[in-house]
Amino acid sequence: MQTSLRRKFTPVLFSSTSFSMKPSAYSSVGRKGGNLSVFVVVISIFVFGCFMYNEDVKSIAEFPFSRPKPQEIQEGNNDVFQEKERNVGIAGGDDKATTVSVVVNARTVVETEVEGSTSATSSNDHDDDQKSNQENEEEEEKTTEISTGENDDEEEDQEIEIPPEDCDLFTGQWVLDNATHPLYKEDECEFLTAQVTCMRNGRKDSMYQNWRWQPRDCSLPKFKARLLLEKLRNKRLMFVGDSLNRNQWESMICLVQSVVPPGRKSLNKTGSLSIFRIEDYNATVEFYWAPFLVESNSDDPNMHSILNRIIMPESIKKHGKNWKNVDYLIFNTYIWWMNTFAMKVLRGSFDEGSTEYDEIARPVAYGRVLRTWSKWVDKNVDPDRTKVFFMSMSPLHIKSLDWDNPDGIKCAKETAPILNTSMPLNVGTDRRLFVIAANVTNSMKVPVNFLNITTLSEYRKDAHTSVHTIRQGKMLTPEQQADPATFADCIHWCLPGLPDTWNEFLYTRIISRS
Ligand SMILES: *[C@@H]1O[C@H](CO)[C@@H](O)[C@H](O)[C@H]1NC(C)=O
Ligand SMILES: *[C@@H]1O[C@H](CO)[C@@H](O)[C@H](O)[C@H]1NC(C)=O
Ligand SMILES: *[C@@H]1O[C@H](CO)[C@@H](O)[C@H](O)[C@H]1NC(C)=O
Ligand SMILES: *[C@@H]1O[C@H](CO)[C@@H](O)[C@H](O)[C@H]1NC(C)=O
Ligand SMILES: *[C@@H]1O[C@H](CO)[C@@H](O)[C@H](O)[C@H]1NC(C)=O
Ligand SMILES: *[C@@H]1O[C@H](CO)[C@@H](O)[C@H](O)[C@H]1NC(C)=O
Repeated sequence: MQTSLRRKFTPVLFSSTSFSMKPSAYSSVGRKGGNLSVFVVVISIFVFGCFMYNEDVKSIAEFPFSRPKPQEIQEGNNDVFQEKERNVGIAGGDDKATTVSVVVNARTVVETEVEGSTSATSSNDHDDDQKSNQENEEEEEKTTEISTGENDDEEEDQEIEIPPEDCDLFTGQWVLDNATHPLYKEDECEFLTAQVTCMRNGRKDSMYQNWRWQPRDCSLPKFKARLLLEKLRNKRLMFVGDSLNRNQWESMICLVQSVVPPGRKSLNKTGSLSIFRIEDYNATVEFYWAPFLVESNSDDPNMHSILNRIIMPESIKKHGKNWKNVDYLIFNTYIWWMNTFAMKVLRGSFDEGSTEYDEIARPVAYGRVLRTWSKWVDKNVDPDRTKVFFMSMSPLHIKSLDWDNPDGIKCAKETAPILNTSMPLNVGTDRRLFVIAANVTNSMKVPVNFLNITTLSEYRKDAHTSVHTIRQGKMLTPEQQADPATFADCIHWCLPGLPDTWNEFLYTRIISRS
């Protein structure tokens, strides 16, 4: 599985000049990794762009999944652009206009088909995670009474039903429930960035906001912001990872901020760390940018537009020191792995100016990184103080034929979830990484809550930002919106929307603990 190609790179940030990937690297990997060919068709479904994010700017690069011919590795399509001018809102004070100008890279379309046949398609998908599907026994649901806080003027109904601990929250179905969802309104959360405000950005249908996740054997507790804030009192909650975790962080801010009066909440983005602070609870909801969790050359929160992405799988301290003394840690890492079949692993360290790297099969490198991460957690986290979560992979919806819609264009025309859950579904998620993450998080000293959002999110082809988002820090133009094949973002999610459900799982776990 492991290919060990020694390569060199030039450690230079890409600017607006074009670049060239090394096709030989990819074809070599494809040929060399004999076992890899099993996954070839799966892999060929992924056409990966290099995409880049600016933490402040909150823009997504274009992520085109056009389909070059098989046997062809397409490089380039170097749309170099600049992201600029996003207001960084500081609530309770003046909005500070910050102009950030960042050169982000282009997209790279990579698609390869190597001696594969379509029969190989999902050989490794779907199987492994189903094995671990737990049998759900009939359980009497416990009702727990919880006080939502003594000093609230408006006393709400105080009874919340907590699902039994062994109920599998992630097996179930989406039900339309416009009485309870969305949990907040898009225009009532000033902290949402333009990347995710789909309605404001021109999306016409709104039903994507009205779906509630219904577990098969129990129910998620009603969301109450005050109850959550009470749990967060004098505490820090931090999301660590990539732009999908940032998506979820924005959702979490909106979920709690509605009950906090103006001036008693603020958002401060400094470097890799963004902190939402709720004064009256002395609580924070934070986001830390670390797309691979370990050290990489893509760690700069503003300038991570590195095309030649290189990681140091055993190096995590630099980031880890920022995660200490946090009470709730929520990790993820996935999307940045999907760019290429092989990961570039540095020999030596960036600090020492090393430039040589090996190319390692994606799952092998992912396993190394997660083991590094798990060791860090086991060594540095006090389980009596800190609860640790790991979000499973957030899926993409790139090819509408995956859900049998020949008239679709990526995710752009989808207005409803996939509701037939007995239909086998493969939207190209790399399940190998899922299995590794599930396994690693399951075998640690510090208990880690693995939040299995992948399958239920795979049903939500309707929930992506698609063309109702920004690019280059600017709203897509009408012309761009009319060209979803090129411009639709089928990675990130509208808010309110799916990430709110992810946070309902988190909420459930947090309030279930006394
Ligand atoms: C994750 O949830 C899906 C259903 O949403 C289930 O089929 C699968 O077995 C679960 N996997 C794990 C590892 O819990
Ligand atoms: C909620 O759904 C019902 C039935 O589907 C519909 O009649 C009603 O207008 C909807 N309400 C809102 C607020 O969208
Ligand atoms: C406020 O929260 C911080 C961080 O969780 C904590 O260290 C500190 O003790 C809290 N302050 C008070 C007065 O409780
Ligand atoms: C944001 O946080 C940084 C670092 O802690 C601090 O220096 C800065 O003054 C803060 N900005 C605001 C507006 O609070
Ligand atoms: C759901 O999918 C299964 C398997 O493809 C199929 O047999 C069944 O008829 C579908 N059900 C509905 C209601 O479409
Ligand atoms: C799961 O993790 C254990 C312990 O780390 C390891 O021995 C085992 O090989 C792993 N299994 C899989 C399927 O990755």
